Amino acid sequence: FNVPAPKNEPVKGYAPGSPERAELQAMLKTLKSQERDIPMYIGGQEVRTGNVQRISPPHDHSHTLGQFHLGAAEHVQQAIDAALAARPRWAELAWEERAAVFLKAADLLAGPYRARLNAATMLGQSKNAFQAEIDAACELIDFFRFNVHFMQQIYQQQPESAPGMWNRLEHRPLEGFLFALTPFNFTSIAANLPAAPAMMGNVVVWKPANTQIYSAQVLMELFQEAGAPDGVINLVFVDGPTAGEVIFKHRDFAGIHFTGSTGVFNGIWKTIGENVSKYRSYPRVVGETGGKDFILAHHSANAKEVATAISRGAFEFQGQKCSAASRAYIPSNLWDDVRRYLVEDLKSFKMGDVEDFSNFINAVIDEKSFDKLAKYLDNAKNDEGVEILAGGGYDKSKGYFIEPTVLVAKDPQYVTMCEELFGPVLTLHVYDSQQFEKTLELVDGTSPYALTGAIFAKDRYAVDLATKKLVHAAGNFYINDKPTGAVVGQQPFGGARASGTNDKAGSILNLLRWVSPRTIKETF
Ligand code: SER
Repeated sequence: FNVPAPKNEPVKGYAPGSPERAELQAMLKTLKSQERDIPMYIGGQEVRTGNVQRISPPHDHSHTLGQFHLGAAEHVQQAIDAALAARPRWAELAWEERAAVFLKAADLLAGPYRARLNAATMLGQSKNAFQAEIDAACELIDFFRFNVHFMQQIYQQQPESAPGMWNRLEHRPLEGFLFALTPFNFTSIAANLPAAPAMMGNVVVWKPANTQIYSAQVLMELFQEAGAPDGVINLVFVDGPTAGEVIFKHRDFAGIHFTGSTGVFNGIWKTIGENVSKYRSYPRVVGETGGKDFILAHHSANAKEVATAISRGAFEFQGQKCSAASRAYIPSNLWDDVRRYLVEDLKSFKMGDVEDFSNFINAVIDEKSFDKLAKYLDNAKNDEGVEILAGGGYDKSKGYFIEPTVLVAKDPQYVTMCEELFGPVLTLHVYDSQQFEKTLELVDGTSPYALTGAIFAKDRYAVDLATKKLVHAAGNFYINDKPTGAVVGQQPFGGARASGTNDKAGSILNLLRWVSPRTIKETF
């Protein structure tokens, strides 16, 4: 028995006149014409509390997509109970049966669910069609298919035996329930965080970001249609402290699969530490957190390639990818050319809603993010050491629009060179072309994060030096390419330092965190 060999899902282009564009546009219209009433899903039951919050697209305050029902501590408790009730049967099911659920989910998503999940991601999270396609369709299909493939490798990996003896490894699911705390910025990550532990026989309480609930419901329907039994994945909408209060004090808490901010993750570690004696086992704490991802150019680099990497790597999905470039270091000999290309690129970016497919830039996710970014831009405008090369404007009258912005900072330690902004703002520092080695130290020491980074150089010595000196500066390191767009099965994704536990999403390493092996020795 072998699971199908995984191949990366081809990306659809949505070119004008293509059938996929027509289908997606029709789906956007359909979704916009109906307001959805989104319940929690606990033990397979839809739970409505009547305590509702409105959902509207980040790019259009005037439109209502629907509402979701906010839960309380009792619903978190119910979700844990439902998960634990579902656990014995799910944990004992043959792994092939579990694999089938996720292979079916991948096929449903490649087919009938594709347009719906893409459209929900576009409207709910303000992603353009192409960015939705590489996330909600391709990356998620890849997560499902590749993880099933890795799962088979895990279950088949067995120790040596000898005559008169049989040694076995039993990859047990964790004893208890898992908590998936998921972000808004990738629908695929929101789905993979509960799905990866569930594949390995675990049961999950899933709390998505409020700003991703609109597409989370489609994911829940996808899991159900693919055959995930009731209670295996439970979806709750509660505020963080309420969820934490119930979950982190529970004896059966077995681990967390997290993507979000470093601050929240640090708080979770502390709370888990304080409660550690309550748990049956040491919980698995797996998280991907912040980033301050860099592009560093050497004087031998191609200026046009550097500029293109900055404009794509920093501004796709409004810079709200954990992998997005947000600081760049340009050698003085290339600066005039990089500057010219960058200004040209940014001028060509159209900003607006997601229904006009020619808009490259859409809105940032919510008011909190908008206000934070606007403040950084105001401060930059009033700082003599900073030049605003492009953008700098913002407007929240219709939606949360921030212009793609490039700041040029004299001081390489200027605040936006160091802090994570999570928006369409890149800060750039021009260094003396002869000071490459010193700049490597600067890149390494400027931020506590270490998620992604890129070096641009033709000179092989420069590539080699950067790769060695920046050994801990990024978990995903790119040579002559932008630092975003990791593909499942090709560039396993994650970083260390303040960027997380580096358990590489979509790899065997990640799935191994969700099993607790038992070694069995039998003598004959
Ligand atoms: N996988 C995404 C990227 O590389 C980030 O999560 O852009």
